[in-house]
Amino acid sequence: MGRETSLKVLFQQWLLAHKFRKDPQFTYEDKNFLNRHLSDWERVLFDQMDYIDQRHAFGVARTVLNDPRIQNQAEKEILIKAALLHDIGKIRGDFTINQRVLVKISQLFPSWHKRLFKAGKRSESGNLARAVYVQAIHPQRGAYMLLISGVDEAVVELVRNHHNSISRTRLERCLKTADAVN
Ligand SMILES: [Fe+2]
Ligand SMILES: [Fe+2]
Repeated sequence: MGRETSLKVLFQQWLLAHKFRKDPQFTYEDKNFLNRHLSDWERVLFDQMDYIDQRHAFGVARTVLNDPRIQNQAEKEILIKAALLHDIGKIRGDFTINQRVLVKISQLFPSWHKRLFKAGKRSESGNLARAVYVQAIHPQRGAYMLLISGVDEAVVELVRNHHNSISRTRLERCLKTADAVN
């Protein structure tokens, strides 16, 4: 993805974040889908995310549903759950809408990004450095939250690896593709 395209995508994401700022706007059918695929506790973890992240995760789950690389129902169930929960390491309040955009922009400037990440390790939420840190560690944080919740190990590993530069398994590739288009 080129830099221009990235900025265009960032602007679209910023607009969407505003649209869903106060309400994820799930329909009755959407809520049924969530309840069918998440246990009560997993739903609590899902609900801890910002509304824009809930919309994103829901979109990722709808996309994986139709991936032709899925071979059976068990794989589909694992992927849907992983899609719904893959970003739970980002908790409501970790980012303001503008910080979401700035975190992505900071990734274009590696030395600035590295400085922010280091500072974010020790800071409270609410500032850009913390947002950069959370963005970087959210796969591990989310995987840990699922691990201590006793969620299926296959789901935990998909969440842990969803930002790895190289996907090791077919299901990781399915999740990564769906994540990239939502
Ligand atoms: Fe993520
Ligand atoms: Fe994501």
